[in-house]
Amino acid sequence: MHLLAPSILSADFSKLESQIKLVEDAGADLIHLDVMDGHFVPNITFGPKMVRDVNSITNLPLDVHLMIEHPEKYIKDFANSGADWISVHYETCDHLDNVLNMIKAHGCKAGVVINPATSVDVLNDSLNITDFVLLMSVNPGFGGQSFIKYSVDKAKKLREEINQRGNNVFIEMDGGIGIENIIDVKESGVNVFVCGNSIFGSTDIPAAVKQLKNLINK
Ligand code: DX5
Ligand code: ZN
Repeated sequence: MHLLAPSILSADFSKLESQIKLVEDAGADLIHLDVMDGHFVPNITFGPKMVRDVNSITNLPLDVHLMIEHPEKYIKDFANSGADWISVHYETCDHLDNVLNMIKAHGCKAGVVINPATSVDVLNDSLNITDFVLLMSVNPGFGGQSFIKYSVDKAKKLREEINQRGNNVFIEMDGGIGIENIIDVKESGVNVFVCGNSIFGSTDIPAAVKQLKNLINK
């Protein structure tokens, strides 16, 4: 399974509906929504209302990446707003098992996210609970940053661990992904590719989606 998830963080919010339509019609698989609280990360974006409004204009599943402190307080709101996948940062959860189970209890796919400097080793037994792991390949907070190269080594190590365990956890990667590195990312064992700037920063959004999709489906 290889899925492309355009991140609307880099979209023009004044043209959000038409830009989402463009990526949907060009073959995007998911819409990635970055929720930031100005505490866990140094930027503020949007909350459940945005998820609800985006849900009303697209048929694509919504992949909600929570970069917020105390994510457990907001799982219900995001699930009720139409999130299909919800991921929480390992670094923000004192009781990760509880939070992942809470996400699943709301009928969503549950994901655990780790920052670039957090080792995949910390995932350990959460790999038996989570549906997916999101590896950050930039420090979270902003779109358009440069890809951190050691992220592919982390993905390879995680892929081996998942294969050894024989479970179905899939790997998503987020940050600095574009045509210049998406093949390396794919070869490291990643299934879901988040792309913000390389899609919405392009002068031809549909062409960017198609090109990235072709590369991951090769
Ligand atoms: C960063 C966000 C990303 C961001 C990726 O904190 O989690 O989803 O939108 O954007 P690019 O692809 O531009 O690095
Ligand atoms: Zn993200």
